[in-house]
Amino acid sequence: MTTPTRSKNRISKKAASFTESVIREMTREAAKYGAVNLGQGFPDFAAPEDIKRRAQEAIAEDFNQYAITWGTKDFRDAIVEKTSWFLGLDIDPETEITVTCGSTEGMIAGMMATVDPGEEVIVFEPFYENYAPDAILSDAKPVHVALEFSESGWTFDRDALRDAFNNKTKAIILCNPNNPTGKVFTRDEMEFLAGLCIEFDAICFTDEIYEHILFGEQGQGAGDVGVREHISMAQIDGMRERTVVVNSLSKTYSVTGWRVGYCIAPPDISSAIRKVHDFLTVGAAHPLQKAGAYALSLPKSYYTELQQDYQRKRDFIVPVLQDVGFKCGSPEGAYYVMADIAEFGFSDDIEFTKYLIRDIGVAVVPGSSFYHDASLGSQQVRFCFCKKDSTLEAAAERFEKLR
Ligand SMILES: Cc1ncc(COP(=O)(O)O)c(C=O)c1O
Repeated sequence: MTTPTRSKNRISKKAASFTESVIREMTREAAKYGAVNLGQGFPDFAAPEDIKRRAQEAIAEDFNQYAITWGTKDFRDAIVEKTSWFLGLDIDPETEITVTCGSTEGMIAGMMATVDPGEEVIVFEPFYENYAPDAILSDAKPVHVALEFSESGWTFDRDALRDAFNNKTKAIILCNPNNPTGKVFTRDEMEFLAGLCIEFDAICFTDEIYEHILFGEQGQGAGDVGVREHISMAQIDGMRERTVVVNSLSKTYSVTGWRVGYCIAPPDISSAIRKVHDFLTVGAAHPLQKAGAYALSLPKSYYTELQQDYQRKRDFIVPVLQDVGFKCGSPEGAYYVMADIAEFGFSDDIEFTKYLIRDIGVAVVPGSSFYHDASLGSQQVRFCFCKKDSTLEAAAERFEKLR
């Protein structure tokens, strides 16, 4: 038998053009070297008992077959109810919600449903690493606008943002509260951005999975007054009809492995997202949507406690990092710290990250994975602090060796 000569590329240009997730690779590296994992953003503490119990009951009650492709009625109703009290938005469960396999699927389904080849999508940089492959897979042309760190926190140049918009701009991706920088966009910034979306008839994809993780000033003490308010892009005047809110159970309820998320979008966009979602995945796990309906109905005190716990963790880890030589501010929201490593004299973030894992025993994410041009992040790393107090204390102890 003759072996046919291979004349075709077996791997698509799209798949060949991005790498495996560096964040998830760091989790594997951490396990290999027994490092404390401050890399990937998942809690190492238990998920809430009552939410887990509801999932177990749902399986026992036999909610084990396909759910309605765009989500179970009770979960969509719970999303409506929660969005009403939390954001003051009135949404229609029949036409404006699509339940997805995590916000990850929500974002890519949203982009595939709206963007045509060659259309531009603006992305603030540094960005959550999924947005780059999302752009490639949906044939979008990403246009980057820098978020820059200064004494007053992470800011962007308004002229640079305006210059990024043009007639080919289809959408902008906003991540607020922001991963990896911890920035929380102010109302004024969001109104500026909204003005541009309206002027250029662009859609805003807003990833709001950290909507309940916002902080007050460093050192005020957990639960003190001054905790920042979450503003959704869909609340800004004129934006509701051009906004796709991407959200999920993952971070708010500490169930990143469940893969249940949702998109809230106007009916025409929702209908397109539902079609893409149906053929990508059919639907999210049925029993976990049942538990999701329960989770979204938890009292407001659940969110206050979550906020207080994370604020306490932030107030512990940030001074530890600053003390051993990292240059960083205190995040305003989400559970990450993006830090400058110039002090340590390494040629780049990859070398430093390897050293940190192998010699110090702490895994982090190299800064370059949040930039389209690796050199821009070569003197930064990202820490996450959604970890048990004992994990953060163990990391703090190991960081002592950096002095
Ligand atoms: C900004 C952002 N969006 C989306 C995700 C993924 O969320 P999900 O588990 O809902 O897919 C993450 C996870 O770290 C994230 O940080």
